[in-house]
Amino acid sequence: MAGGRIPQSFVLDLLSRADIVEVIGSRLELKRAGREFKALSPFSNEKSPSFFVSPTKQFYHCFSSGKSGNAIGFLMEYDRLTFVEAVEELAGRLGIEVPREGGQFERLVLDGPLDALAAAQRFFSEQLRKHQPAIDYLKKRGVSGETAKTFGMGFAPDSWDALSHFFDDPKHAIDAGLLKKKEETGRVFDVFRNRVMFPIRDARGRVIAFGGRTLADDPAKYLNSPETALFHKGRNLFGLYEAKQSRKSALPHLIVVEGYMDTVMLAQHGIREVVATLGTATTREHLTLLFKSTSKVVFCFDGDRAGHSAAWRALEQALPEVDEKRECVFMFLPDGHDPDSLVQEIGEEAFRKRVDEALSLSTFLLGELNKQTNLATLDGRAKLAGLAKPHVAKMKDSPLRSLLVDELSRITRLRREEFGVAVSSDSEAPARALSAPPLDAGSVRVLKLALQYLVERPDLADQVSELELLAESGLPGISMLVEAVEFFHENPSAHGGQLHEHWRGTPKAAALERLGPLSAALDDAAIEREFTDAINHLRHKAMQSRIDWFKAESAVRELGSAELAEWQALQALLPRRSQR
Ligand code: UTP
Ligand code: MN
Repeated sequence: MAGGRIPQSFVLDLLSRADIVEVIGSRLELKRAGREFKALSPFSNEKSPSFFVSPTKQFYHCFSSGKSGNAIGFLMEYDRLTFVEAVEELAGRLGIEVPREGGQFERLVLDGPLDALAAAQRFFSEQLRKHQPAIDYLKKRGVSGETAKTFGMGFAPDSWDALSHFFDDPKHAIDAGLLKKKEETGRVFDVFRNRVMFPIRDARGRVIAFGGRTLADDPAKYLNSPETALFHKGRNLFGLYEAKQSRKSALPHLIVVEGYMDTVMLAQHGIREVVATLGTATTREHLTLLFKSTSKVVFCFDGDRAGHSAAWRALEQALPEVDEKRECVFMFLPDGHDPDSLVQEIGEEAFRKRVDEALSLSTFLLGELNKQTNLATLDGRAKLAGLAKPHVAKMKDSPLRSLLVDELSRITRLRREEFGVAVSSDSEAPARALSAPPLDAGSVRVLKLALQYLVERPDLADQVSELELLAESGLPGISMLVEAVEFFHENPSAHGGQLHEHWRGTPKAAALERLGPLSAALDDAAIEREFTDAINHLRHKAMQSRIDWFKAESAVRELGSAELAEWQALQALLPRRSQR
């Protein structure tokens, strides 16, 4: 394919779809090693593996040859391809056509499988109109025509080849998980048959998968599209796009339910800020996704044992994510109800009242732990402390954690320190944030670490504010960190490999390669802690250098009132002993 440049937006998009572990795994034998994969270096003759691939960072590092890079970089090195060839190879694997600037396809060429999914969605909704039994079923369940339209619902006919006949070329529909090929005969058949279809959309509203509810008594009541390059159950939520569409401004909260019908029926009753996990437990990635659109997540579970244990699993995922700005609450439904049946019975207002009364994370946590202990006895209280400690340890240092520790220490009559939280760092999180950095830590090393954590966990970019203060600090290398943070703010789902792509050909890309991988011993909580510490250290340095600048300026000229105010504010923030 000839033509203009490949748009960088396409290359970044491509890297978000591709998986470097798959790309390299099809060429080298990879073995799991902690959070990474390792292999014998293909670039040198070695006996013990020094080649590492990071699935989170989407980056490889080869210590013996010093080479490193993203999936495209690897293909260039290993397959000896040019940049354009490597992009084409990667796109080819995913069945995506490479667009060119100024070419026939000005827009990012709609990827083949996405096209097939969009076409299938139109086909299914067309079929719904034609099949009275499906219409009757939805009527019986109380789904209005408008709701069906909002969610793009449809119907897959009871046939092995209705959809297959609809496509001239089944290739993209197979890649999208809509059709399957029988190994023995090579015949292609429909995956979804005799089912009401719910399209699952991505953040941009493109259909990336389907869920289908059987009209018959198929033991698989619901069927989801298989995991594809476009669709990962643990990373997508049904209804998120529709929920966001329902409102111009930020959503005050998002309700998480289990089922498709629950989502759809709540929305029909005016509760449109609702999403469903796709038949899986809540993941960290779900939470990251949710907190991009709201500051409060309301988990809605059945009131039975199963509901409580699902809620507990959600709580465990939520602990490291919550703080004073990101809240999770838990609501439990009356016996025998799901959100669909409840909202139909009690209506919007009464349902919302229950949402308002949901249990806070601490209340739910303490309630569940209390069930396992007898607080009347000393042993029981010690046991509660023991049970609570690992959960407290997972939380970020925040006022929320501090309150929880207060409560725990009140109930157990143990000192706060017993919960593994230093006394001084509690209740005054901001004071800690501004306390003097460790003297031994050189800022350059800290900056390097911060970058390392950030490319490993780009969602941490959310924690960095006051970019201007950092940018103006003049700390060596700070612009790289600031730019990286900005890049991840602008591209919230991008990974480290994409940042590298963004910097291709600049000294920053080379600097990124030199960073090397993180110590495998660090878990997510540790990375977050270390990152926060590093950023606080840098902010502290930045404030110091700003104060120094004011001092120097004030010696040679009269400062303006705004400048004086800022200087004073900074001095109030920095403890005196650490000012120079
Ligand atoms: P439920 O069985 O509670 O479904 O499963 P529901 O939404 O109340 O279904 P209706 O009301 O009978 O239509 C909740 C969710 O679990 C997943 C689906 O995502 C479903 O919406 N599930 C359930 C499956 O993936 N497969 C199943 O066989 C059942
Ligand atoms: Mn139901």
